[in-house]
Amino acid sequence: MRVLGIETSCDETGVAVYDQNEGLLINKIYSQSLLHSHYGGVVPELAARDHTLRIIPLIVSALRETGLTSSDINGIAYTAGPGLIGSLLVGSAVACALAYAWNIPIIDIHHMEAHLLAPMLNQKNISFDSGFYSNCTDVIKFPFIALLVSGGHTQLVMVKKIGEYKILGESIDDAVGEVFDKIAVLLGLQYPGGAALSVMARNGIKGRYIFPKPMIHKPGLNFSFSGLKTAVSRVILSLKTNDNQVKADIACGFECAAIETLTIKCYRALKQTQIKNLVISGGVSANLVLRSYLSNMLESMQGTLLYPPKLEFCTDNGAMVACAGLIRLKSGLAHTNLSILVKPRWSL
Ligand code: KG4
Ligand code: ZN
Repeated sequence: MRVLGIETSCDETGVAVYDQNEGLLINKIYSQSLLHSHYGGVVPELAARDHTLRIIPLIVSALRETGLTSSDINGIAYTAGPGLIGSLLVGSAVACALAYAWNIPIIDIHHMEAHLLAPMLNQKNISFDSGFYSNCTDVIKFPFIALLVSGGHTQLVMVKKIGEYKILGESIDDAVGEVFDKIAVLLGLQYPGGAALSVMARNGIKGRYIFPKPMIHKPGLNFSFSGLKTAVSRVILSLKTNDNQVKADIACGFECAAIETLTIKCYRALKQTQIKNLVISGGVSANLVLRSYLSNMLESMQGTLLYPPKLEFCTDNGAMVACAGLIRLKSGLAHTNLSILVKPRWSL
């Protein structure tokens, strides 16, 4: 069984084919980041238009490179939401048209569920009914806690099994990745600057700038990052400096505050639920400081930390959509309704 996955929720056009026995056969991505960097953030209309240019050539080259034809594909999975409506519509329309032409089922995928499954991507022969979740190196049992951190979401979720989720907490304002990107622009880095900010922070001196860790003294598992964004922005705008060391010190202070906040909330979620295993996914799970803080914490709790096997699987990609599609196809959750359906706002 093989599924073609299509991801167009934001500014990456992703196409992949996932095979039940062989695992990931191909994963192709076209990033629009250069297109949007000029504006310091994603321009929805430009994003949608660019997906229309990229999507078909990307699918054609994925099939050509794997030597597959339409008759080798058993289902088409596409990101139906949450995301930018124009971008989602491109993926949805292409998926429905191909499903009709090839006479195969279609599977609409929740973008955050796809992120959640990304740690499993290196595996072959995923057994979905076994009650286990694995990234090849480690195997954990359900339920576990997942921290989903991206440019659009910051969520703590209890995963009872695939498809059964309880949101324990989420950001009441900005997503953590969005704040990384905004601070990065103020520090003179190109959009999306989360990864570059983290590299800059490595040269920073810890403690030179100390920023508030939002909502850690309030009970509960919600997050708020807009106050931290304002505090860091104020310092950058008042200093108006071009000194690389000062910028690195600020980047380091910001990264520490953001990552320590995420770590404290994860600890709280694990303690509260008496669960020892944590999965992180989404673009910000590529952050090495986050991984190191969380793995130290889990080591002291004798728990396990799982994250996507490659950095390219942390950020948006078609592979995670194809993988989620295969799981849902096998579980009988595919359908043949070809209405072009998207849900820009969609709770997990
Ligand atoms: O999951 P993703 O590709 O897109 C959304 O679904 O939003 O996440 C993109 C986000 C961006 O905000 C990007 O700056 C951030 O992930 N990101 C990082 C790192 N790599 C990507 N943030 C912090 N540190 C990183 N190393
Ligand atoms: Zn994403």
